[in-house]
Amino acid sequence: MMINVAKPSSQIVMKTQTTSATLAIVSSLLLHASMAASDPIQDTFLQCLSNLSQSPSPPISSVTYFPTNPSYTPILHSYIRNLRFTTPKTPKPSFIVTPTHVSHIQASILCSKIHNLQVRIRSGGHDYDGLSYISDVPFIIIDMFNLRSITVNVEDESAWVESGATLGEVYYRIAEQSKIHGYPAGVCPTVGVGGHLSGGGYGNMMRKHGLSVDNILDAQIVDVNGSVLDRESMGEDLFWAIRGGGGASFGVIVSWKIKLVQVPEVVTVFRVERTLEQGATDIVHQWQYVGDTIDDDLFIRVVVMPVNRKTQKTVKAKFVALYLGNAEKLEALMGERFPQLGLKHEDYVERGWIESVLYWSNYPIGTSADILLERIPQSEKFLKKKSDYIQEPMSKAGLEGLWNKMMELKKPVLTFNPYGGKMSEIPELDTPFPHRAGNVYKIQYSVNWKEEGVEAEDKHLDLIRRLYEHMTPYVSTSPRCSYLNYRDVDLGTNGNGNVSYSEASVWGTKYFKGNFERLVQVKTAVDPGNFFRYEQSIPPLTAWNGKMAE
Ligand SMILES: Cc1cc2nc3c(=O)[nH]c(=O)nc-3n(C[C@H](O)[C@H](O)[C@H](O)COP(=O)(O)OP(=O)(O)OC[C@H]3O[C@@H](n4cnc5c(N)ncnc54)[C@H](O)[C@@H]3O)c2cc1C
Ligand SMILES: *[C@@H]1O[C@H](CO)[C@@H](O)[C@H](O)[C@H]1NC(C)=O
Ligand SMILES: *[C@@H]1O[C@H](CO)[C@@H](O)[C@H](O)[C@H]1NC(C)=O
Repeated sequence: MMINVAKPSSQIVMKTQTTSATLAIVSSLLLHASMAASDPIQDTFLQCLSNLSQSPSPPISSVTYFPTNPSYTPILHSYIRNLRFTTPKTPKPSFIVTPTHVSHIQASILCSKIHNLQVRIRSGGHDYDGLSYISDVPFIIIDMFNLRSITVNVEDESAWVESGATLGEVYYRIAEQSKIHGYPAGVCPTVGVGGHLSGGGYGNMMRKHGLSVDNILDAQIVDVNGSVLDRESMGEDLFWAIRGGGGASFGVIVSWKIKLVQVPEVVTVFRVERTLEQGATDIVHQWQYVGDTIDDDLFIRVVVMPVNRKTQKTVKAKFVALYLGNAEKLEALMGERFPQLGLKHEDYVERGWIESVLYWSNYPIGTSADILLERIPQSEKFLKKKSDYIQEPMSKAGLEGLWNKMMELKKPVLTFNPYGGKMSEIPELDTPFPHRAGNVYKIQYSVNWKEEGVEAEDKHLDLIRRLYEHMTPYVSTSPRCSYLNYRDVDLGTNGNGNVSYSEASVWGTKYFKGNFERLVQVKTAVDPGNFFRYEQSIPPLTAWNGKMAE
């Protein structure tokens, strides 16, 4: 598929003409750039970038890293959150730009277009399948970690947050200014704002306040022409698409204006475990009827894992909760609605909201909130994740069958996140994220391992796929839905960019249901040449001669 190089602005045309002769030669040489980046290629690139970047200071050359630069590998690796993609075989970018100014982004886009290089956009690098920093074709990375300022405005209950910020930084900066404000987003502090907010973003306040995408007021994006747009200038269709459709199909999102939510000064958390011997099956069974119907202020997550208690195999269910209220009220609520869990008075722990964030990240009591500014996670693993939606509670027999399967496979961990509340009130079409009313809970399948190599990888991929297969009768159908931010390339990909509509709509409708078509329409309007693409990017209609159906 040809990239439709749009006409740059007259100012840029004048500047590019001086280098256009060299650029033509360089395009073909580029294919070999990753093998041995020689100086002339670097120079030509840098010249293009410098010519098109309007920022005098710092110059773009000082934030561009070629493979010959000693910082290239540390920078590449510092935001890879899955060890599967740190091997020598992992495809590497021709170079990495780490913008400190929006003009660096504009220049990177325009030069990549001229050179027919694909762009991968990375903010926090938490993409489970690494799609923000790998590709089978020559590519560069625009790495957003330098752009991470956060400006909180408590008075109008909003904040401007740059994409390279982490969720931990957002929570920290809000709490710094107000004890009674928060933001509904993920529970892992190192997740990046850029990917998270463009792909949905859920956390333990979603039953009360919805997703991150339900709490965004404005955004700044650089589009395929290098134009910097805000909500007003991008229009409501594009603003709709980037709130859940995955930003990287549409442009580089520089920053977001988020809407803060009010939280009580005192919230309550608990974390208890129950094994099969302690009645886990009955309790989880009951949870399926309580989790999505109980008070919106309460979010009870269940994490289920196989354990080997002194050779007697069992399954352990961990219940972790956040309640937006005090312990006394929660104790009464639990007594009334979920006595089966058997909580004791001392299980209820009162906290400020920011301390509840630390609690949910498993930091020991007393840990300073400063740890939320730490950008490197506590541990790194090889991993694979998948997701499903449960629309009918499973029977006890079904749960027992699942436990047996988990004990047989030994490894996989399941996380159940309850829906309902605000999630059921927001219409499916409001944002690209379609998994609203009718879902009881979402399952995350997770498998981690420490051994290097293809054999270990194949073994663990097989385990998680078998568990996913086992769950087929119990989960959503037509389509079997998945959560975009739980990236899963098993669902299908764009391959090398030439898939039919029916192939693309397989994974497209799993993530977006009917919203996939609107995403295709928006993509066609804003990027008909399909410059912003990756393995699971939204294709434009031009990819199928203007028609959705075959
Ligand atoms: C440890 C861990 C915990 C998690 N916990 C949660 C959770 O509690 N809730 C939840 O909802 N999800 C969770 N996730 C999933 C997470 O939301 C997604 O992986 C999310 O996309 C990560 O964003 P990122 O910026 O870190 O990732 P990246 O890998 O940088 O990006 C992910 C995708 O977004 C694109 N993108 C990134 N930045 C931009 C930008 N500025 N402009 C345009 N496109 C961009 C990338 O190209 C890629 O396609 C978790 C993931 C991990 C690894
Ligand atoms: C894409 O697929 C169509 C139909 O199969 C084919 O005609 C076309 O040549 C392909 N294009 C590319 C670039 O591979
Ligand atoms: C990009 O520029 C081209 C050529 O000037 C124009 O036709 C197109 O509408 C522009 N795209 C956007 C999204 O503004």
